Amino acid sequence: MLNKPHPEHQDYFPTEVEGRSPHLTNVSTAQRLPADITQIFRKAKEGRVLFADRNALLPEYLPKHLPFRNQQINAVAEVLAPALHGSKPSNLLLYGKTGTGKTAVTKLVLSKLQMQGVPKLTASYINTRIANTEYRVLAEFAATLDVKIPFTGLSIGEVTSRIFSMIRDKGAYAILVLDEIDYLISNYGDDILYEFTRAGERISPGFLAIIGISNNLQFKEALNPRVLTSLGEEELIFPPYTVQELKAILSDRSQIAFRPGVVLQPAVGLCAAMAGSEHGDARRAVDLLRVAGEVAEREGLQRIDEECIRKASQKAEHDRVEEALRSLPVQNKLILLAVSKFKEGTNTGQLYLSYTALTARAGLEALTQRRVSGILAELDLLGLVEAAVISKGRRGRTKRIKLIIDPITLDRVLREDPDLAIN
Ligand SMILES: Nc1ncnc2c1ncn2[C@@H]1O[C@H](COP(=O)(O)OP(=O)(O)OP(=O)(O)O)[C@@H](O)[C@H]1O
Ligand SMILES: [Mg+2]
Repeated sequence: MLNKPHPEHQDYFPTEVEGRSPHLTNVSTAQRLPADITQIFRKAKEGRVLFADRNALLPEYLPKHLPFRNQQINAVAEVLAPALHGSKPSNLLLYGKTGTGKTAVTKLVLSKLQMQGVPKLTASYINTRIANTEYRVLAEFAATLDVKIPFTGLSIGEVTSRIFSMIRDKGAYAILVLDEIDYLISNYGDDILYEFTRAGERISPGFLAIIGISNNLQFKEALNPRVLTSLGEEELIFPPYTVQELKAILSDRSQIAFRPGVVLQPAVGLCAAMAGSEHGDARRAVDLLRVAGEVAEREGLQRIDEECIRKASQKAEHDRVEEALRSLPVQNKLILLAVSKFKEGTNTGQLYLSYTALTARAGLEALTQRRVSGILAELDLLGLVEAAVISKGRRGRTKRIKLIIDPITLDRVLREDPDLAIN
């Protein structure tokens, strides 16, 4: 099923049209395109009417002020402050749901710390989801310490030793932030962390303090107890924002991002309410406002109205689903594919049979039924399937599992995965 060209894909390769030669077809397309492009560019230029600084709504933008996070900013600063006079700070773990300001707070404190002019201090920030492999995490960290590491070729142990030698020889005060640390742990285990947290004497007179950041509390379960005790010397929790807080954050941001009069209070209120409907997620709020601005711009409106925000929300939901699907491990994708075979939903037994047939076709080992049930619970949490418990009277209870996302989107995303080339 997955190798069949999708009807949508066929449209990308139009065949000859109404007896014209393909060459003539191309010419007519070429004649049409420049006009479209001109229009797109003209609209984009006019769009400047709405946005004053669109960058202020991009995910990587770091605001100068982070309202409602003073407590967390001060707490991180307190933990790191001893580094300024050469004492090793405690390691620190930061938790909180997505969009609660963990990354923004940490980057803000690090930048202030670096401004204190302590030459021995190096503060390195690495997102382990983006750095993606253990080797890259180490190589990026090494680069910030001026340790030269080839792109590949050295063992993890060798890279770690070179990093430690440099810290010791320079007497460096090294602070390493590992953002989205759960990615590193779930893919590579906690070996590096074990080495890092036990470096102690080996790097004296220098030191290495670690800040781990995660929106997934469960990653702690995968840690060696000694690593956990050491890494979690200090812990800090980031609560979700309230809708009122999101409103204030958005008001501030919209004043930088948009021209006066483009975003009125009701629009800010609606964005905040939508972004706060599950948990107060500032990223979602800011994204929503940016996309709503883009919708308003494309539609030639003078201000962002309710309709723009609703359209932005639909688009964001669609993007969220696609992103969640792309990042799933192959077994989870196969389980979803099995669920999608049953339009009206199915029970765990039937689902397992369908799943094992798919794994056989894909040349993969099937997981146990117990493990599949665990993965189904995760897919339920991600909002991709719905697993409802149904009572069958005296015969007990069973689960009915149903896909709750668009099957065409699922099909399109799964098709991108080379491991799923099922014949
Ligand atoms: N208090 C705040 N004031 C202004 N903007 C904020 C605040 N908190 C977060 N933001 C903005 O919201 C977005 C998300 O914040 P951030 O990236 O820090 O979240 P996070 O907790 O790291 O989420 P994740 O766990 O998904 O990585 C960023 O664009 C950030 O600038
Ligand atoms: Mg983050």
